[in-house]
Amino acid sequence: MLDELQKLVESARREIPLAGDRDAAEALRIRYLGKKGELSLLLRGMGKVPTADRPAVGAAVNSAKEEIEKLIDGALQQGQRAALEAELRAPPLDVTLPGRRLAARGHRHPVSAALDDVVEILARMGYEVAEGPEVELDFYNFEALNIPPNHPAREMQDTFYVDSAKRVQAPVLLRTHTSPVQIRTMLARKPPLRICSPGKVYRRDDDPTHTPMFHQIEVLCIDKDITFGDLKGTLEAFVQAFFGKSFRTRLRPSYFPFVEPGAEVDITCTLCLGKGCRTCKRTGFIEVLGAGMVHPRVLANVGYDPEEVSGFAFGCGVDRLAMLRSGIDDLRLVFENDLRFLEQL
Ligand code: FA5
Repeated sequence: MLDELQKLVESARREIPLAGDRDAAEALRIRYLGKKGELSLLLRGMGKVPTADRPAVGAAVNSAKEEIEKLIDGALQQGQRAALEAELRAPPLDVTLPGRRLAARGHRHPVSAALDDVVEILARMGYEVAEGPEVELDFYNFEALNIPPNHPAREMQDTFYVDSAKRVQAPVLLRTHTSPVQIRTMLARKPPLRICSPGKVYRRDDDPTHTPMFHQIEVLCIDKDITFGDLKGTLEAFVQAFFGKSFRTRLRPSYFPFVEPGAEVDITCTLCLGKGCRTCKRTGFIEVLGAGMVHPRVLANVGYDPEEVSGFAFGCGVDRLAMLRSGIDDLRLVFENDLRFLEQL
């Protein structure tokens, strides 16, 4: 028994100092001193040791156990030191290195940027923002604007109707322009008025310069003695504030049932600078606005006296403004939300 004990201690002296780290030292503790470890196995033979020899064998067992424990503690400490040294040898953290920048930073959608700029320009000119619903009643979108049922002007603004027969008698539709906000505001308030109304509108359109959903901003000015000269001056100031002083505008007589006289306002095509291209249909100009003096019948429809007050209104395609400013030749690209396209703007 004493021989076997001696052999065990010698093997522990050889093996334990070679444990490379804490895990290896722990494993050796279990192997030598664990419940089913080698020392416990040896002690099972204690019964065969003659009684007289037992005190000496017991003392030898205790001292063997103590020595193995010390060896293991030493190995554990050695493992800890090795781990610390490895950590210290790792490449140092350089706190003076410059920070890493975000690879890509988002920006406003070109249409949102154009809308914000237009509202800011109009606010500087004294216009306040008025809003209206995108799902609108036929009355505000057409009838009150002097476009009765079956009027041919409805064909130019074919839209999407909402099936609402059970809840509302009048037809409900997605508004085709921001002009219904004129009616809602005039019905709610007395003149003088200077409002602008930005928002989404919808039509059954789909070609390079016409999308089924687009953005307009409506401008309405009602006061005493407002003339076509005021409209022209305001349009010129607005267009030049957005595009720059050298920008040319062109007014063409046009028909909108809710104004008299009416005009369409074109701007030099920024893609071809007036030479003529696919986008401007070879004319050198691109249409961005409908405008005119508010029709006396519309004023009467909202309870204003056309003899007392007059006013002008215009409705502008904001997407067209964004398109011209960013040099985009197909409006449909703007709404496809392809990041490869939007990131270039
Ligand atoms: C109107 O919508 C009138 N409400 C404008 C108006 C207001 C006239 C006040 C008089 C007084 P029009 O249908 O022309 O007019 O549209 C106005 C502008 O919206 C156009 O000049 C064009 O720039 C833009 N637009 C029209 N349809 C589309 C479309 N499908 N996609 C993108 N832009 C469009």
